[in-house]
Amino acid sequence: ETGHVTYDPGFVNTAACASAITYIDGDAGILRYRGYPIDQLAGKASFLETSYLLIYGELPTAEQLAEFSGRIRLHTLLHEEMKQFFDGFPRDAHPMAVLSSAVSALSTFYQDSLDPFDPEHVEMSTVRLMAKVPTIASYAYKKSIGQPLLYPNNALGYVENFLRMTFGVPATEYEVDPVVAQVLDMLFVLHADHEQNCSTSTVRLVGSSNANLFASVSAGVNALFGPLHGGANQAVLEMLQAIQAEGGDVKSFVRRVKDKEPGVKLMGFGHRVYKNYDPRAAIVKQAAQDVLNRMAKPDPLLDIAMQLEEIALADDYFVSRKLYPNVDFYTGLIYKAMGFPTKMFTVLFALGRLPGWIAQWREMITDPTTKIGRPRQLYVGPTERAYVPMDQR
Ligand code: SDX
Repeated sequence: ETGHVTYDPGFVNTAACASAITYIDGDAGILRYRGYPIDQLAGKASFLETSYLLIYGELPTAEQLAEFSGRIRLHTLLHEEMKQFFDGFPRDAHPMAVLSSAVSALSTFYQDSLDPFDPEHVEMSTVRLMAKVPTIASYAYKKSIGQPLLYPNNALGYVENFLRMTFGVPATEYEVDPVVAQVLDMLFVLHADHEQNCSTSTVRLVGSSNANLFASVSAGVNALFGPLHGGANQAVLEMLQAIQAEGGDVKSFVRRVKDKEPGVKLMGFGHRVYKNYDPRAAIVKQAAQDVLNRMAKPDPLLDIAMQLEEIALADDYFVSRKLYPNVDFYTGLIYKAMGFPTKMFTVLFALGRLPGWIAQWREMITDPTTKIGRPRQLYVGPTERAYVPMDQR
């Protein structure tokens, strides 16, 4: 009667694709990479070990890990002409925009490894991405603060190399804090994959057109940029800082959330799949307390975050909607304590998620049965109607 197609609002989403990489049980709060529970990997498996597991399907032997790390070390440098690329951005460019552009540009500098159906090309692109994205990320930061870029130092470990390029300067030797490196390595493990989240589905969908790995991952970076997805860790810190600036009245902020004041959400809470405590959030919360205690950097924002969690978990508004802390709720506090500016938080999420994107793209390319098909829609527009000449409108 309205001239529009109507449909059952109870339309249930169907699975986007099949995959053998990551398993999530949202009600039970379970997350497993290739069958290994996240709480068994976090703090035990290194980020490169976890990356190997996600990409190749098995935990590596010591020799396999050494060979994988060795191949990555050979490719940490960027093409010299690519360094000019960073000069083209305004100084206050968001590093996520720089990252997605630079990752896409990799396909212009490395045209010898773009064929998704040539196993050697896929392997080369995999290693080049794992090796160069930390370099690109640190360069994006250095440009924003007007400091010189530092070449990678391949005598260092993967995370240590990234920390030195990010916080080191040519004038002095930079000593990487081993605790910072170890905690950041664990945070990367926690972010490494998460089945068909927005950015991973984007990587698979773009890759399903046989687009090369660099183009597909660049699209994933842009999807992660959104504040409801990877941008949430930046939004959480900005929310905590706003509460602090207004006197730290957590209860009145929660009331504004419950009143659904436009633009006021409890960032870092809620999840499309977890209707229970995100298993990663519990691990990150403990790490936040450890890092802040160890670095003797008591942060009032951590107290505000813990008050928010305590109030929300006791309030039926949140409990009835199954809103619990997700992976983004505490991570920003750790990144801040490590010295990262808020704008770099989502870049750190992308560094962690990189092996997951690569693994999922490779699975889709090698096993077409796991491809995300061309999505269909429920048409809810006008029914057929005849053209109306201009002078009769
Ligand atoms: C990540 O998918 C993944 O796996 C993502 C991720 C990964 O590893 O890749 O886990 C990473 O993106 C984590 C999520 C980070 N985003 C945020 O923290 C942003 C804040 N969260 C919300 O935007 C929201 O919770 C979502 C988008 C994450 C999930 O939304 P849902 O589960 O689809 O819930 P919904 O939008 O359908 O809302 C259900 C109800 C609504 O209230 P009513 O209309 O029923 O009254 O819950 C309310 C919403 O208003 N609600 C919130 C809320 N999230 C949902 N109310 C206040 N604060 C929130 N954060």
